[in-house]
Amino acid sequence: MRNAVMRQFERPHGPLGALAGWIMANRPSNKTRNDWTVDLLDPKPADHVLELGCGPGLALRKVCARVTGGRVLAIDHSALMVRMARARNRSAIGDGRLELRQGGIELLETIGEQFDLVYSVNVAMFWRDRRGTLETIKRVLKPGGRIASTYQPRHPGAKPADALAFAGRLRGELTEAGFRDIRVDTLDLRPIPAICVQARA
Ligand SMILES: C[S@@+](CC[C@H](N)C(=O)[O-])C[C@H]1O[C@@H](n2cnc3c(N)ncnc32)[C@H](O)[C@@H]1O
Repeated sequence: MRNAVMRQFERPHGPLGALAGWIMANRPSNKTRNDWTVDLLDPKPADHVLELGCGPGLALRKVCARVTGGRVLAIDHSALMVRMARARNRSAIGDGRLELRQGGIELLETIGEQFDLVYSVNVAMFWRDRRGTLETIKRVLKPGGRIASTYQPRHPGAKPADALAFAGRLRGELTEAGFRDIRVDTLDLRPIPAICVQARA
C-alpha cells in the first residue's frame, strides 16, 4: 500500500492519487519546503512567474499573495492536481493573476511567453531528460530570469547525502544548459534536509 501511494507522487490519479494529494497538502515538511522555496525565489509584485508541477498548489498561494500586479502560470500533467490547485487558489484565478494548465513540460515548447522566475518543488527528479528540460526552461526565461528547483528526498531509505548528490547533479546540468550564477541553499528539515538550486538564464 505504501509503495502504491509513493508511486502516485509522479502523476497522481484516482483514489490513491487523491490520498497523495492530501499528503502533499498537509505534511508539515511539504508545507515548509514550499514556503522556503517561495522565500528564496522572492517574487516581486510585477513579476511573471511559472511553476512546473504545482501539485495541490501550496506554493502558488504564497506566490500569488506577492505577485499582485504581475501574472502567475502553473502547469501539472495530473488533472487531479490541477483541480486541487484550482480549489486552493480560487481568488487569484478569479481576479486573473493565476492561470492553471494541465500538461507536461512539452507545453513550454509552444507557450509563447517569457518569465522572470520559473520554479519547481520536488518535480525535477522526475524529468527523464533533465538537461533537455533545463534547456527548454531557459528558452522561456527572460534574459537574467531565474530558475529555482527544490528537492527533498522522500523515498524509503532516503539519506541526507541523496539531497546533496542531487544538488550536485543539478548544478552540473544547469551549467551544461548554459545557466550561470548557480547557488545551492540547504534547509535543515526533518526527516531529510531539502536543497534548492537557483541559477540565472
Ligand atoms: C511530488 S509532487 C510535488 C507537488 C508540489 N510541487 C508540492 O511540492 O507540493 C510532483 C508533482 O509534479 C507533477 N509532475 C511530475 N512530472 C511532471 C511533468 N513532466 N510535467 C508536469 N507535471 C509533472 C506531478 O503530477 C505532481 O503533481
